[in-house]
Amino acid sequence: MKVTVVGTGYVGLVLGPCLASFGNQVVCVDIDKEKIEKLKKGKVPIYEPGLTELIVEEAKKGTLSFSTSLKDELAESEIVFIAVGTPSNPDGTANLKYVYQVAEDIGKNLKGYKIIATKSTVPVGTGQEIKKIIKKHYKGEFDVVSCPEFLREGSAVQDFFEPNRIVIGAESKKAKDKIKKLFDPIDADIITTNIASSEMIKYASNAFLATKISFINEIANICEKVGADVDMVAHGMGRDDRIGRHFLHAGIGYGGSCFPKDVNALYQIAGTRGYEFNLLKAVITVNNNQRRVLFEKIKDEFKEIKGLKFGALGLAFKANTDDIRESASLEIIKLLKEAGAKVAAYDPIAEETAASALNGHEVEYTNDAYEAVKDADAVIIATEWPEFKDLDWNKIKSMLKKPYIFDGRNLLDKEKMINMGYKYFGIGK
Ligand code: UGA
Repeated sequence: MKVTVVGTGYVGLVLGPCLASFGNQVVCVDIDKEKIEKLKKGKVPIYEPGLTELIVEEAKKGTLSFSTSLKDELAESEIVFIAVGTPSNPDGTANLKYVYQVAEDIGKNLKGYKIIATKSTVPVGTGQEIKKIIKKHYKGEFDVVSCPEFLREGSAVQDFFEPNRIVIGAESKKAKDKIKKLFDPIDADIITTNIASSEMIKYASNAFLATKISFINEIANICEKVGADVDMVAHGMGRDDRIGRHFLHAGIGYGGSCFPKDVNALYQIAGTRGYEFNLLKAVITVNNNQRRVLFEKIKDEFKEIKGLKFGALGLAFKANTDDIRESASLEIIKLLKEAGAKVAAYDPIAEETAASALNGHEVEYTNDAYEAVKDADAVIIATEWPEFKDLDWNKIKSMLKKPYIFDGRNLLDKEKMINMGYKYFGIGK
């Protein structure tokens, strides 16, 4: 099939090459000329395991290409995916101006039946709005489909090929069947429904996962007061199939480009319809507090932070990505800097993106974890990079001024660290 993907962010840039690998003819379109030029040369602007290789391979095969002109590509394509960003407005609602701009461009240039499918996370009603916009300019037949994305950053390519489910929200059988056929090579349950339900499935899924995280973080905070270990509690809870073990990992709160934005947007959508979503309000409040928990532990322990040096391990919002959007790590570093501390930080791949986000805060970025912790008063683990687990923690102890570990991800074994002579602070243990 001939497919156009509009938007080369995390969603579009994974979707396009993956669909190309099924033998479809895919063009990824973006208005950012510089980005498209780089992509044409095989330079991928994001870190996502396996993605660069896939892009280079598909481009070489001729199944994948890049363009800055939606108008040029539209005539040839059968399906157009909208995968542009939906950032937050100041009030928390999703900003849909990029989505609607693409709909305008499509409407103005349509010449024959196409399927317009949304991959961007959009509030309920957006599909209908896209339809209205296109209809303003084009009187012929077309279909709008909602096809939400459930990929996780850091494992997006794998998630694409092995999803838990594929959701298709459509009004016509023709459109449903065609999108089903596109995803046919994937062995997964396909759920077909109407557009509104499909749009809601995406928000409800993210909101539920965020709720699980805030729930376990609340349990963690209570565990600390009663002498329980949240990791064991999560393990015990998770063995109940009805609960499940996933997303019960206590830590410094959820971050990234999706959960904070989508949870907020769903809360706001409910509000605009006159419904106070009390549970989500609490999820947001708990998460905002949790992002400060590690800093509060440091403050309680050291009393005076000014002049102390901290070695921060991890800058990305989670492991396996260079994405620092809404990263709790950066928030902790900012709090430490504002309190007058010195910070040296190391992340396997997110240093560059973090440095621009932390612009104005003097942070030393190091080439490895050992350099970051040298002469520090404490180590902070802010991202759960597996390699941090395998560091030589005896060596680190000898390099530190004081043997303190503040483990915001419960990455290390508490008993082992204590036996090594560390003063260990985790979350909920
Ligand atoms: C999330 C969803 O998991 C995807 O299904 C969805 O497609 C995506 O948002 C999106 O809407 O685009 P992502 O933001 O990449 O994916 O990352 P997650 O792995 O879900 O983690 C989100 C945050 O929650 C991270 O900060 C992570 O550290 C935190 N988290 C996750 C926890 O604190 N505890 C957990 O048990 C799990």
